[in-house]
Amino acid sequence: MNKADLIVALDVPNVEAMEAKLQELPDFIEWYKVGLEIFCAEGPAVLEPLKKRNKKIFLDLKLHDIPQTVANAVKTAASHGVNLMTVHAIGGRAMLEAAAAAAKECANPPKIVAVTTLTSLSEADFKDLGINRTVSEQAVALGELAISSGIDGMVTSAHEAKALREAFPDAILVTPGIRMPDGDVGDQKRVASPSFAVEQGATHLVIGRPIMHAEDPTAAATAMLEDMNK
Ligand code: C5P
Repeated sequence: MNKADLIVALDVPNVEAMEAKLQELPDFIEWYKVGLEIFCAEGPAVLEPLKKRNKKIFLDLKLHDIPQTVANAVKTAASHGVNLMTVHAIGGRAMLEAAAAAAKECANPPKIVAVTTLTSLSEADFKDLGINRTVSEQAVALGELAISSGIDGMVTSAHEAKALREAFPDAILVTPGIRMPDGDVGDQKRVASPSFAVEQGATHLVIGRPIMHAEDPTAAATAMLEDMNK
């Protein structure tokens, strides 16, 4: 039993590239993340190769719209067999409550996690947006809003995960930006190792390039799992 779930980010441009990657990746990977790029290219058909292989699906569309629109999108995604999906906490209480309520009405309710702050935003961007909090304060404040609205958890950098875990003992915490201690960080600024993310309270680790671009994806995924479980 792994200490957290490993989710591979399928950041590919089309379904052909996705099929080729799925052939290459090891069977023991149970979760895949489908994001905006491929979903815009292919629509819900992109989920079929994953369902055929009985994989769990994390649909990362970061919904942020009026409550009714988000609720309808949650229901539609659930009807396609999505297990986990994202909304923006900044959409506010009515939107978050509508998303959570819509999920609960589904035959197979997806779990919903809220993005508190995009990791691309700095505290200078916060100023432009009129937010007078630190990144960590904003994460906890919006986490509080999300959880009290019925949302299941948050997407967070491993560096904010501890504060969120302490504040919300039962929340799902999804952490991207994972690298092996000696790995190439790419464009990620605040990276963490799998074991650090788990220690901070992450329940799901999203890993893209370190597995997707590895010469030997099975070896890369195995190393990530070993580090996570140590
Ligand atoms: O390749 P890498 O491991 O950096 O990929 C991480 C995945 O997680 C990408 O799909 C990226 O869009 C996503 N992500 C992220 N940071 C966030 C939210 C999502 O890196 N705050």
